[in-house]
Amino acid sequence: MFQLNQRQCAAFLNSEMSNTIVVGAQWGDEGKGKIIDFITDKSDLVVRAAGGSNAGHTVINNGQKYILHLIPSGILWENKLCVIGNGVVIDPFGLLEEMAKLRSQGVKISPENLVISETAHLVMPYHKALDRAREAKLGDKKIGTTGRGIGPAYADKIERGGLRAVLLTQPEVLEPELRDRIIRHNETLAAAGVEEVPVEETVKAVLDAAAILAPHITNTVVVCHEAIQAGKSLLFEGAQGTYLDIDHGTYPFVTSSSTTSGGACTGSGVPPRMIDKVVAVCKAYTTRVGSGPFITENDAIGDMLHNMGREFGATTGRARRCGWLDAVLVRYAVMINGADELAITNLDGLDGLETIDICTAYKLRGKVIQYPPSTVADIELCEPIYETHQGWKQDLSQIKKFADLPPLAKAYLKRLEVLTGARISLVGIGPDREQTLTV
Ligand code: GDP
Ligand code: IMO
Ligand code: MG
Repeated sequence: MFQLNQRQCAAFLNSEMSNTIVVGAQWGDEGKGKIIDFITDKSDLVVRAAGGSNAGHTVINNGQKYILHLIPSGILWENKLCVIGNGVVIDPFGLLEEMAKLRSQGVKISPENLVISETAHLVMPYHKALDRAREAKLGDKKIGTTGRGIGPAYADKIERGGLRAVLLTQPEVLEPELRDRIIRHNETLAAAGVEEVPVEETVKAVLDAAAILAPHITNTVVVCHEAIQAGKSLLFEGAQGTYLDIDHGTYPFVTSSSTTSGGACTGSGVPPRMIDKVVAVCKAYTTRVGSGPFITENDAIGDMLHNMGREFGATTGRARRCGWLDAVLVRYAVMINGADELAITNLDGLDGLETIDICTAYKLRGKVIQYPPSTVADIELCEPIYETHQGWKQDLSQIKKFADLPPLAKAYLKRLEVLTGARISLVGIGPDREQTLTV
């Protein structure tokens, strides 16, 4: 018989108390930052558990635009504790730059509202140099990374040669270890014919950054568990998206971490049984930055959105590739993440269209398939099967209630629920916090 444990009983009786994971259902940039910000008031802690400063989460409120890379977006709220979990890779210089930028925008950051896991791995300058060198060597087969050193930093972690954030609190241990790593990575850089990282200059710069960041570093597993025991709610701020996941994405055109809901647990030390809800964020169309297969890519949609000044990367400024909504991918993402709910963003991006297509299945070697194949070669052979919907041809951006959406927009959303098997709980009709409709 199904039984609730003590914590689940308490969560059931107190609807304010629940732990929620928010993930991207596509290739990143789904609007997670905006959705997380919208639901943050119901949470006490906002936790990042994967990725690094490759992420770029946009939050717009009161006319101010903030772009978060490593720092959870809860930092924009007062009295929220932000946690950078063990699954994240941290570039100390990028983090300090981000702190300075946010402070210049009036955001308060201290060890009281931002804590960093001792066991998170560090991204060092040699990781960024290696990232760039590998991409250059791949030429037109490049992954199109953000150049933030993410792949090489996770590779060092998995190879058991990385440096962890706890070392920022132990300069006497950090110094020789770092010097050793720089020398070793410089050999690889030299072999690739790339400029080496200056040893002493880098050691000094990292030790200076360590002195500033050390007060933030702690055992964040204990922080999360003590908060849960005290009846607090955690919100996990997913980075990237399901199809950039190292296991489930369009490998090798992926990032190097677990970006799906399971990664939120391993990347924070909060076990699956303590998660109450998973929300998958999904654009009303599809975008992708960087290389890799994209079955529903459509240049006309890209031109339309770019001409509206939309769909340029929050981290690198690159124009995002655009296309129709691919319900095959979203259906599979709902499955992988165990998503209870979908938050559909950027519905307003489709406002001007006469007709709107949704890809409902693929045809591969003459056979209709409902889920994406596992190899890039097969994905590239897939033909999208579309159904065409009539557009609403109306500006949605000023609508205040879900009930006031035009019937054709509601029909589009209803169809997405049927095709993906998840309930739509939020709908975005503009970039501002206020432009979010609760269903
Ligand atoms: P994230 O990485 O998932 O947080 O998404 P990004 O911030 O990289 O990209 C999403 C972009 O869409 C940002 O420019 C947001 O301001 C914008 N955005 C989010 N939701 C909406 C929406 O419902 N409508 C419009 N017009 N823009 C949105
Ligand atoms: P958010 O959290 C969109 C993409 C890169 C590249 C691939 C590998 O803002 O949704 P990496 O630098 O991680 O080694 O690059 O992953 N990528 C993202 N695309 N949004 C992101 O994050 C991304 N983070 C990485 O463009 O294709
Ligand atoms: Mg982004």
